[in-house]
Amino acid sequence: MTDIFSVTIDKLGARGDGIGEHDGLPVYVPQALPGEVVTVSVEEKKRGGLYAKLVSIEEPSPNRNDPACKHFGSCGGCRLQHMGANAYQQWICDRAGFALKQHGFDDVNILAPFFAPIASRRRASFKAHKGGSGVIFGFNAKNSHQIVDLDECPVSSPEITQLMPALKFLLNRILPTRSIATVHCTVAANGLDILFDAHLELTLDAREVLAEFAVTHDIASLQWQNDGFLDPVAIRREPVMDFAGVRVPLPPGSFIQASAQCERTMVNHVVDACKGYARVADLFCGVGTFTFPLAHDHQVLAVEGAQEAIQSLDAGRNGSAARGIRLKQIISKHRDLFRRPLTGVELTGFDAVVIDPPRAGAQAQMIELAKSSVQRIVSVSCNPNTFARDARILADGGYSLSSLLPVDQFLWSAHLEVVGIFDRNP
Ligand SMILES: C[S@@+](CC[C@H](N)C(=O)[O-])C[C@H]1O[C@@H](n2cnc3c(N)ncnc32)[C@H](O)[C@@H]1O
Repeated sequence: MTDIFSVTIDKLGARGDGIGEHDGLPVYVPQALPGEVVTVSVEEKKRGGLYAKLVSIEEPSPNRNDPACKHFGSCGGCRLQHMGANAYQQWICDRAGFALKQHGFDDVNILAPFFAPIASRRRASFKAHKGGSGVIFGFNAKNSHQIVDLDECPVSSPEITQLMPALKFLLNRILPTRSIATVHCTVAANGLDILFDAHLELTLDAREVLAEFAVTHDIASLQWQNDGFLDPVAIRREPVMDFAGVRVPLPPGSFIQASAQCERTMVNHVVDACKGYARVADLFCGVGTFTFPLAHDHQVLAVEGAQEAIQSLDAGRNGSAARGIRLKQIISKHRDLFRRPLTGVELTGFDAVVIDPPRAGAQAQMIELAKSSVQRIVSVSCNPNTFARDARILADGGYSLSSLLPVDQFLWSAHLEVVGIFDRNP
């Protein structure tokens, strides 16, 4: 096998790599685009394919674009900044449709995708390593534990990117040499929520430096987690989210949609899809992203597996009553929907179900939904593959997929969010 050769790229794979063929084997080339002739160097042969590095581009594609970030290529966060907007939009639609095709859905009504604006990502988890020459602070390189030292990130929101130099400086002060930390940043409605995760006991000095940092940068909440033990170093305001006017406390590390604009798009789509259905179940409801907007017009059963998320949702509901916000009845349930899905019988009386599981999907719950008499199911998913697998269960149970909305919440990455609307066949 020659290790360096020229290849024509035929298509883009689901992970954003260009795919060509060499000696009868597929060749995966990051940063190569369909139609391009490129020289590559093979780095690995596995699972019947060649994984190669782009060496040079002999014939570039007209769809090639200048990347928005100077770290593109080395940072593992973004995969497709080198692609022009039209070709990228087509790839997003193809990705959404491709997984469904594999499960027998040939003719899906794919709506125009929504794209997260640049600088809108409000959650980021940075890695930091302190070596002999100071702290390296950024994201991991692709498929590697190596950290790429970042001084910009065009996809993250300004609240986060403006703080990056200060966070690096802070970690330089408090981390001992040869130690690592993860820094989770979330932009809440009332300021930044920062959670440090490191196998390190805080010294008194480090605690003082962190507390001072929280004041200087007006951080809402700064916590330190050491081996699972959470130390609330500086809780200056309890971080809250605002869902349709309802203020919900945000437990540390809890799930929120990664961009406010994508959240709004998905919420509007879900609320529109539930119009006219009186009783709605919101399964895998988290802290209530869909529950509260729905509860302005519908009775909602909100079910979630994380106890702290349900406590927050309850606090939001109770607080809204105290603030005079008029919502319809919300019943919350803490329940593991993988092990104990709501049964077809329990779903009796619900007109619509919103379901938004983690990446693994919700196979067990979909089997029950397929047996139910629920009229409409709105399936929100961050994994087109498990979405398509679960869609097949619903289709075999007598539901039709009427539309699919792709939401590109993680711009230029291989992640894609989709919202599918299913209706029970007459
Ligand atoms: C993609 S998030 C969606 C949350 C919420 N719908 C939102 O938009 O903010 C998935 C949710 O499923 C919850 N979850 C994970 N495994 C679960 C399980 N086995 N049973 C119930 N909920 C689970 C997570 O805690 C998380 O809140």
